[in-house]
Amino acid sequence: MPPGPRSPAFVQTLRWIFRPEAFMRRTAEEHGDTFTVRLGPQVDVVFLSDPAAVRRVFQASPETMMMGDINGLFRPILGINSLLLLDGDEHFRQRKLLLPPFHGEHIKRYREIMEQAAIEQVESWPVGRPFALLPHMQAIALNVILRAVFGMEAGPRRDEMRGLVARLLDLCQSRSTMLPQLRVRLGGLSPWGRLMRCLGQVDRALFAEIERRRADPDAASRLDVLSLLLSASDEDGQPMTDQEVRDQLLTLLVAGHETTASALAWAFERLVHEPRVLGRLSDEVTAGREDYLEAVVKETLRLRPVLPIVARKLTEPFRLEGYRYPAGTVLMPCVFLVHRNPKVYDDPEEFAPERFLANPPSTYAWIPFGGGVRRCLGASFALTEMRVVLSTVLRRVELEGPGGRGERIARRSFTFSPGRQGRVVVTRRLAAAA
Ligand code: HEM
Repeated sequence: MPPGPRSPAFVQTLRWIFRPEAFMRRTAEEHGDTFTVRLGPQVDVVFLSDPAAVRRVFQASPETMMMGDINGLFRPILGINSLLLLDGDEHFRQRKLLLPPFHGEHIKRYREIMEQAAIEQVESWPVGRPFALLPHMQAIALNVILRAVFGMEAGPRRDEMRGLVARLLDLCQSRSTMLPQLRVRLGGLSPWGRLMRCLGQVDRALFAEIERRRADPDAASRLDVLSLLLSASDEDGQPMTDQEVRDQLLTLLVAGHETTASALAWAFERLVHEPRVLGRLSDEVTAGREDYLEAVVKETLRLRPVLPIVARKLTEPFRLEGYRYPAGTVLMPCVFLVHRNPKVYDDPEEFAPERFLANPPSTYAWIPFGGGVRRCLGASFALTEMRVVLSTVLRRVELEGPGGRGERIARRSFTFSPGRQGRVVVTRRLAAAA
């Protein structure tokens, strides 16, 4: 195995959980692009940060590289059919059923929903005093999912679902619900018990929504993801069962909500600390141009990737960079370190969107959405949402930083988000708002 830290496994695991950024940086400084760490009592995990090695992993046969097992922690919440938990043929089948609504062309139809969700939030922001953006970005991301994915119309049912789902997501953020040892119900009094009770309520509301939609005579003309899933069928003509649809809806919610909200909070956090970039971006969006906007989104996801790693577990021996890894080894293309690799990026710590205009990185040097057959299903959705929310906000308000330095990276359960939740000040509202 490639060399790595020598400290006991539990010390490495604690550093990874509580100081992930420092852990990755220091280990890479000491051991280079590829190193082995021990997370959990037994598991050898190999971090990879050379794009050539990452390419080999993403291009390898899905039979050799599994992921479902690694995500097993989510099974009681997402259900056994969740895309995140499947491998092999069943993953392929479910992914094929889910893909059509997430194609770039289809996503364009959700732009209006995204813009509307952003406008509703901006209107509530105070002028002249600092506030944290992350909760507002979470509200936008949730409203977009309720409308575009669940297809829920305004009204009491959507309000009820919003409340339930927001609570569920909040409970999922707690570290104690993610540690298998602490998963005891205690009659609904423990964090895990509360989460399970809330999940029961969400399930009842979701199954009722699925039933209503199946009975809706206009379902065929609807464009939301749920309606499209209900009308989809596999190669044998089999439609999805209610349970499958429920599991994938929860998967889309959990995979797509906090990630997009954190990415947006980071975009604003970086912008208000880089007035040069913010100034240019405001001019460009006011003029209706999108190239620089796209570069800002990509540079945000490079410098502040919300998921720092992706993982694959080997089912058979695999040769890479002169090593022969045995079955059971976990290979982790490290998004965070690939994006900071000085062999790939000049001045990697600089927030410089121009780099994506002049000399865009290769496919395997920019991997915020992972890659290969497991690449994020919602990548186009998320990129579109980021562009729409950024331009909608910047046309309506003038922003600046709250003073002081940029925010440190904080781990919120699985995502990396701004340590002070992206604090900004609205200095004034712009004419577009009127
Ligand atoms: C900025 C926002 C987002 C980021 C950074 C992100 C990142 C990722 C990453 C790194 C993976 C794992 C890929 C791999 O293992 O190679 C993933 C998987 C996934 N993401 Fe996203 N994601 C985002 C938003 C979304 C959204 C909006 C949705 C859906 C509404 C979504 C749905 C999924 C699903 C279903 C998977 C599992 C794919 C599979 O296993 O086949 N994500 N995402």
